[in-house]
Parts: sequence; C-alpha cells; structure tokens
Amino acid sequence: MKFTTLLTLCATAAAQAAQTDYFFRFAGGNAIINGQRLRGNNSISYYSPGVTRPPYNPDDHFMRLSTNASACSPAAVLTVVPTHPHPPPVPGYYGLSDKEGVPDAYRLVYTYRVAEDYGAGFRYTEWQLRRTGEAGRVLLRYPVAGGGEWKWIAVREMSGGAGDVEKWVPWYVKRSAANAAKLAEWDFESVDLELVQAKGGVNSQAPGGVDE
Ligand SMILES: *[C@@H]1O[C@H](CO)[C@@H](O)[C@H](O)[C@H]1NC(C)=O
Ligand SMILES: *[C@@H]1O[C@H](CO)[C@@H](O)[C@H](O)[C@H]1NC(C)=O
Repeated sequence: MKFTTLLTLCATAAAQAAQTDYFFRFAGGNAIINGQRLRGNNSISYYSPGVTRPPYNPDDHFMRLSTNASACSPAAVLTVVPTHPHPPPVPGYYGLSDKEGVPDAYRLVYTYRVAEDYGAGFRYTEWQLRRTGEAGRVLLRYPVAGGGEWKWIAVREMSGGAGDVEKWVPWYVKRSAANAAKLAEWDFESVDLELVQAKGGVNSQAPGGVDE
C-alpha cells in the first residue's frame, strides 16, 4: 500500500514539474544583482545569462527554463525555453562549462550544440533542485565529482560589442589553491542562485519575453 502511494506521489510530482517553467535569480551579492532575474544577450561571446545595471533593455529576455526534475528523481536537465521566434529544432541546455580552463570553476552557459560547443568537461545532466521551506523557492546545485564545497559567485565582466556593458554572470566554484590566484583577479560577489517559477506565458514581444 505504501509503495503504491509513493508511486502515485512520484507521478503527481513529475506531472507538476513538467508544467512549471522557471527563471534564474541571484540572491545576495550587491544592490545591482540581489533579487534580479538573469537575462540573456545574443551579442556576447559566451552565452552566460547575467544581470546588468538598470535601465534594462526590454529586448534582453529573462532566461527561461523547464526541467524534468521530480521529487523522486532529482538528477535533472535544465532545458532552454526559447522566447524568440524560430528557435532551432533541437533542445538547448543550461550547463556548467570548464572551457575557459579555470581550475575548480565552471561558468553557467546555455547551448544548442552540447558536443560541439563544450566537449567532455560540460556538466548538464545532473542538476539538483533543492526545495527550501519558502513556497516556490528552489536553489540550484550540481554535484561535481570529487566533492568539496561548491558555491555560486557572480563575476563582473564587461561585454557587448564595444565591451562597455557591465554584466554579472554566475560561476560555480570551489575555492582551492589551484584557483586562488585567478579568483583574486576577479571582481565577484558571493551569491546563491535561485530558480523562481514563471508566472506568465512566453511572449517574444513583451518586455523580458514574458507576459506578467
Ligand atoms: C532528465 O533527462 C536527462 C537527460 O535525458 C536524464 O539523464 C535524467 O535522468 C532525467 N531526469 C529525470 C528526473 O527524469
Ligand atoms: C546586451 O548588449 C547590448 C549591447 O551590446 C547592451 O545594450 C545590453 O544592455 C546588453 N544586455 C545584457 C543583459 O547584457
């Protein structure tokens, strides 16, 4: 009997998860980024979602995702929900990229070409959604092989065609002797990365790409 009940709960949880889209949001850090949802920008070289200073460009849509995570099976993918017309006919994924070669550090990116763009070091199939006590609040984690204390930071970088747009992008890092020198060079804030439920439908014409 108990087993049957659990199966029913799992099926319900999976069905609910399948219908929920999320956005990424920084929690903590400085006044520029705290509480801000992450937006995309097609004009940057690495496809990192990020947060810029206001005023926000309405054409920079909030990066939207869906996931197959369920209460019963937490290892999940985060699938890109495109907000612009004519998305490629292949799924896109959010993942952790080691392409820049910083030890014990991964940049959050998205890609429609997992193998070509990122290779063997790309991590994207084992995302964990940690539910907190707060209604609807979910924290994002990834179990990187080797263990240790992995945390989110927001790194300030200059992007855009002219390199004059200040943007804060998420990296997942484990402090170590191997990356101490690199981290000392970076301007970054300690943050957490939350997933917040989307409350409106996709609309490529709406500010941020969402009806809300
Ligand atoms: C989600 O999909 C990925 C890729 O197909 C798979 O590896 C993973 O096990 C799935 N997770 C769940 C909870 O179904
Ligand atoms: C995207 O880049 C353009 C210029 O290249 C800039 O105006 C805009 O603010 C940028 N937005 C984000 C979120 O980086």
